[in-house]
Amino acid sequence: MIGFDFSGKNYIITGAAGSIGRAIAETVVACGGRVCAIDIDEKTLREMAASLPDALFCYRVMDLSSPDAIRAGFAEIIREFGQLHGLVNCAGVLSTTVFEEITQAEWDRTLAINLTGVFAAIQAVYPHMKANRYGRIVNVSSVAGKVGGGLMGRGAYATSKAGLNGLTKVVAKEGGPYNVCCNGVCPGWTDSRMINHLVDEENYDRLRGMVALRRPATALEAAYPAVFYLSDLAGFVNGEISDVDGGLTFD
Ligand SMILES: NC(=O)c1ccc[n+]([C@@H]2O[C@H](COP(=O)([O-])OP(=O)(O)OC[C@H]3O[C@@H](n4cnc5c(N)ncnc54)[C@H](O)[C@@H]3O)[C@@H](O)[C@H]2O)c1
Repeated sequence: MIGFDFSGKNYIITGAAGSIGRAIAETVVACGGRVCAIDIDEKTLREMAASLPDALFCYRVMDLSSPDAIRAGFAEIIREFGQLHGLVNCAGVLSTTVFEEITQAEWDRTLAINLTGVFAAIQAVYPHMKANRYGRIVNVSSVAGKVGGGLMGRGAYATSKAGLNGLTKVVAKEGGPYNVCCNGVCPGWTDSRMINHLVDEENYDRLRGMVALRRPATALEAAYPAVFYLSDLAGFVNGEISDVDGGLTFD
């Protein structure tokens, strides 16, 4: 039987306390991988640590809007792991403001976490992966980045995710010769902490009407394609950005 096998391999997963990041982290651990989960939400990370085996799970509380914290923290994790095999950039913040009304502070914060933080994270692991001739990097983007704003995320969010799609291809192209692959996933409407509090009855019907499958993804359904890209089953996939949107973007 062919399945995900991450045994003997080490991974950093950001946004791991969130709905999709947690599903990715728990799936990787369930398939034998060792995960260092990164998030700013210490309470959830602690809960996860209580339910997962110590040998396969550890966490670090980190503010991913700080490139300096990322560079220092990731260097320590790599030292502790010995070898890092993969990185999933799943942390993100939503911005729902229409373009005309985005404040400079909202723009800066959204770009800092969703794009600059990912740049710093990839740069922090890239030389190590390149030297080892092995790396799997997965960026969790959004359909919003492809269509000028998604179901909820608007201007700053959509721009940050469009930038992330560009960064994914850059890293794929430059990293490929060193067996460092970089791919992205673009979830659409997902049952998650990020979105659920914004979905009232009226919104729910509007969203259902936009998605061919007529429902949101579960967090696990949004996670599995990212887990696939992290795995050796995707060994020849590089620079791909997949929609995980139940039939919405159709490109
Ligand atoms: N939920 C959706 O419908 C949807 C749709 C498209 C794309 N996405 C993307 O999927 C990813 C995961 O989203 P989710 O739905 O699981 O949302 P979520 O809010 O549950 O998870 C996001 C996580 O990022 C963490 N985070 C935010 N800012 C941080 C910071 N400064 N430092 C460290 N951690 C920080 C949060 O604490 C949270 O745990 C995000 O990148 C999001 O943009 C989600």
